[in-house]
This record gives sequence, C-alpha cells and structure tokens, in this order.
Amino acid sequence: MSLFPFFEWCDNTAISAWIRDTTWSFPVIETFHILALTLLYGTILIVDLRLLGMGMRRQPTRFLAGELRSWMNASLAVILVTGVLLFLSEAIRCYGNDGFRFKMVFLFFAVTFHFTAFRRATAADDESRMSLGMKKVVALVSMTLWLAVGVGGRAIAFV
Ligand code: HEM
Repeated sequence: MSLFPFFEWCDNTAISAWIRDTTWSFPVIETFHILALTLLYGTILIVDLRLLGMGMRRQPTRFLAGELRSWMNASLAVILVTGVLLFLSEAIRCYGNDGFRFKMVFLFFAVTFHFTAFRRATAADDESRMSLGMKKVVALVSMTLWLAVGVGGRAIAFV
C-alpha cells in the first residue's frame, strides 16, 4: 500500500500552503525546531554522560534525570510539533527523501528507547535492577539513536 496519497493530502492542507506562501514562517519554525533539539540533546547528553560515569558524579543519576525530565519532555513536544509543521510544508518532497525515511525510522526507535530502557536505567538503583555495565550500554545506544535522528534531519535538505 502506497503512503503517497497521505503525503499528498498533507502537502495540500491550508497550513502547508500558508507556510509555503509566507517567506519567514519556515525559517522561524525551523529555528524553534533546532532550539528545541539543542535543549533535548543537551539534557539527554548530561544524563547519558552521568550513566557512563563521566561528569556530575556527586549527583545520583536518578536525581539528575528527575530534575531534567520535564525539560526533556517539553523540548521533545516542541520538536515533534515544529517537525510536523515543517513536514506539512514539504510533504511531497519528504515522500521520496531517504534522509526523511532514515530519520523517521530512528526517531521511532529513539523515542521508544527513551521511554523504556533509558527511563529504567535512570530510575533508582533498587527499581532499575540494571547492572552498571548495562546502564553504560543504554547510555551509548541512547546517544547513537538521537545522533542518527539529527543526521537524518540535516540530510533532508541534501539528499
Ligand atoms: C527528536 C526529534 C527530531 C530531531 C532531533 C530533528 C532534527 C532535525 C534537524 C537537525 C534538522 C535540520 C535542520 C537544518 O537543516 O538546519 C531537521 C529538519 C527537519 N525536520 Fe526534524 N527533527 C526531529 C523531529 C522531526 C519530526 C517528528 C518531523 C516530521 C514529522 C521532522 C521534520 C523535519 C523537516 C521537514 C525538516 C526540514 C528539512 C529541510 O527541508 O531543511 N523532524 N530536524
């Protein structure tokens, strides 16, 4: 089953036309997309580095993850909303775009991993029951998945 009719419908919505017809809306939306991703990456990286035993070692991981959780969730929400707006404005272009496909596949795995293994690895030791070695693997996988999403996002404009 081809997804093309869905992409065509997305490309023809009123908001798609509005973003395409106003000079400043795409760059402004993309700026918020990038600002939100810097906040998401920054907060996740601090916790991943803590899981690897690098930096902020006086703070328990669960404390850091707890303090940063609302920032992670808020920035993820902003990225998803601005991403959908950017997508709507160039849905047909995204349809045949390998960068977009690569990004959406890794985004699915990154978000799923974030709310499962990452959430468990950053819980209290007695709750997570995860070995130190396993927590380091979780941190490395988390970094790799989010990096792949970013690379896919950047690639959209070039492939
Ligand atoms: C955590 C999630 C996401 C991350 C880390 C991310 C990352 C990026 C990056 C790094 C760029 C390139 C910015 C640039 O060229 O200056 C980008 C652009 C873009 N993203 Fe995302 N993105 C995310 C979610 C989404 C979602 C959910 C969608 C759509 C459903 C989306 C659609 C787009 C589009 C259409 C562009 C513009 C590409 C262009 O024409 O330049 N993004 N994103």
